[in-house]
Amino acid sequence: MAQTYNPQLGREHSYPYEHREEERDYHWGMVINTNRCINCNTCSFACKSTWTSGEGEEYMWWMNVETEPYGGYPMGWDMRLLDDLEADQTIFDAAENGEQVRGYIAEKQAWEYPALGDDQVHGEYPEGEVVESDLENDEYHDIWQFYLPRLCNHCKNPACLAACPRKAIYKREEDGIVLLDQERCRGYRRCVKACPYHKPMYNPETGVTEKPVGCYPRIEEGNVPRCVSSCIGKTRLHGNINRGPDAGPAGGKSSAASGRSPINYLVHSDEKVALPLYPQFGTQPQVFYMPPYHVPPEFLTQMFTPNTEVKENEWPGDTYEESVRIVQERARNPSHEVLGILQLFGATTRLIETYNVKENRVKGWDRNGEKVVDVPIEEPMEVREGEQWTNQ
Ligand code: F3S
Repeated sequence: MAQTYNPQLGREHSYPYEHREEERDYHWGMVINTNRCINCNTCSFACKSTWTSGEGEEYMWWMNVETEPYGGYPMGWDMRLLDDLEADQTIFDAAENGEQVRGYIAEKQAWEYPALGDDQVHGEYPEGEVVESDLENDEYHDIWQFYLPRLCNHCKNPACLAACPRKAIYKREEDGIVLLDQERCRGYRRCVKACPYHKPMYNPETGVTEKPVGCYPRIEEGNVPRCVSSCIGKTRLHGNINRGPDAGPAGGKSSAASGRSPINYLVHSDEKVALPLYPQFGTQPQVFYMPPYHVPPEFLTQMFTPNTEVKENEWPGDTYEESVRIVQERARNPSHEVLGILQLFGATTRLIETYNVKENRVKGWDRNGEKVVDVPIEEPMEVREGEQWTNQ
């Protein structure tokens, strides 16, 4: 099998196809701030009503929200596969029996309860007691949970694509969105088995598989996906993850801000605040999460870092757990730049290609260099003169 360099792991590993994803000018990407998610599932229903409301699609939730640490759809999807991998093994390294990828097909029962584990907390709740924590001194709650929105990651090393013997799955040249050609599909379900995030789903009515499409018709028109535009908590920012600091002005217009996209800053700058979900699988997922800052770092380390003893990439701490603590602190006390970018979350339904934070304003431009958003970073507050109402 060919080798590929994986920047999320800081090393090479096997992958069936040679490719240089880092060199694309444009790649679909998303950042989700878990600290803002309220598990309302507006995103899940927006996605379902748009894409999977037909026959045979009843169980298909391309977008779903899980409660960590107990929720999961399909049930137990993450731990079951992680248990099969040895330390430092990706799902490609661990492939067996002549297959390209290590995976499994979830049983029917595992798909029957999309909300199993919802709102269930970790730890025993001492009835009538006040639970104390002191985050300044790294004392986290013993009792915690958080919400994890899950969707197709449009991976740079897609396992579904690697596994299909029909070559029915492909990555679009223009934006890296991973699509499944239903005309070519013969329902072999190797993709269903291979995707560690369990997002390709077989349709028993049509006999072929379907997978999330990244809302590509909206992307082509310069709009963000429906799960992003519908999000009540303003948890998400979508855009071009590959647009780094050396890119020129958007649309070649000198009036538009030059440089990187806001999500590239959150993921790839020295001030990294968003992390990939289970990068140890090796697929290079392109949905990144600002981790919850009230949850113990040990749990987040196994979920959002390669979770190995040796840290081989450029993450901020000496260990992965220390890196998670640093990222949590950055999410809790954001710099002015990050605070500015956070105001772009949910501020427009247009795709923001470049941005600029200056004093108390943050602005964004689309791919053509047209300004699509201009908002204050902190809202002005006025205190009226005179007597104030109090409850005294
Ligand atoms: Fe290929 Fe998956 Fe269809 S493996 S043939 S795309 S079910």
